Amino acid sequence: MTSVTLAPLVAAASACYRDGGRFGWHFARGKLAGDPVFAAILARGLLTGCLRVLDLGCGQGLLAAWLLAARVTHAGGVGAGWPVEWPAPPSLDGYTGVEINPREAARARAAGAHLALAHFRIVQGDVRDVEYVAADAIVILDVLHYLDRACQETVLAKARAALTPGGHLLLRVGDAAGGVGFTFSQLVDTTVALARHRRLIHLNCRPLRGWLELLARTGFNARVVDENRGAAFSNVLLMAQAA
Ligand SMILES: C[S@@+](CC[C@H](N)C(=O)[O-])C[C@H]1O[C@@H](n2cnc3c(N)ncnc32)[C@H](O)[C@@H]1O
Repeated sequence: MTSVTLAPLVAAASACYRDGGRFGWHFARGKLAGDPVFAAILARGLLTGCLRVLDLGCGQGLLAAWLLAARVTHAGGVGAGWPVEWPAPPSLDGYTGVEINPREAARARAAGAHLALAHFRIVQGDVRDVEYVAADAIVILDVLHYLDRACQETVLAKARAALTPGGHLLLRVGDAAGGVGFTFSQLVDTTVALARHRRLIHLNCRPLRGWLELLARTGFNARVVDENRGAAFSNVLLMAQAA
């Protein structure tokens, strides 16, 4: 994306996992440094102005750690490692994460105890069932394909209802028309799911056009922000607002 160094931000964001064990800490460092969505969120100001964020399928809560580290690093200025060309990060006031996996949810909660955030909550539960809190931004990164098609629609309709006026949805999905990149992404996700759940799970992806149609049907105007196809993956980052 740019030649900025992410090292200070990655170090600051992953620090809250250190007490929770080596796995969570190393995972945080690797994912925050390697997954371009985290830098894109800050570099492109995708959550600028959002006070309350609802993160569906939050995993170990990396987004909260990242946004809080951004706030601290930004306050320290260029000397602290804030990239001079980036806009100011969101002044997050509340973060709610929903995560079905109890170990991930526990890691997210433990990390949250280190974050200076007025309202931090991890709900261990299923995004299909839990009630959504009102939010200025709802983030769903690499989660919808774990749900069947009907539930994808239910979740998006619930998200639409929970968004405050002017709020937006940030969504990353796999593009089933993404060719070799899509096949590779599916392989990675299936292997990770197999390692985590000890069983094969069926992943429900749609071509990009199908995702855009689904978003329109559930009351959103959506646009592609970033097509992170790279050499191997076929993930697409979308931003959507109430139609
Ligand atoms: C690929 S990970 C992405 C985690 C996080 N969004 C991120 O980008 O770091 C997908 C996450 O969604 C969670 N998940 C899958 N199905 C879910 C459901 N029905 N309800 C809540 N969480 C779910 C998984 O347990 C996993 O932590």
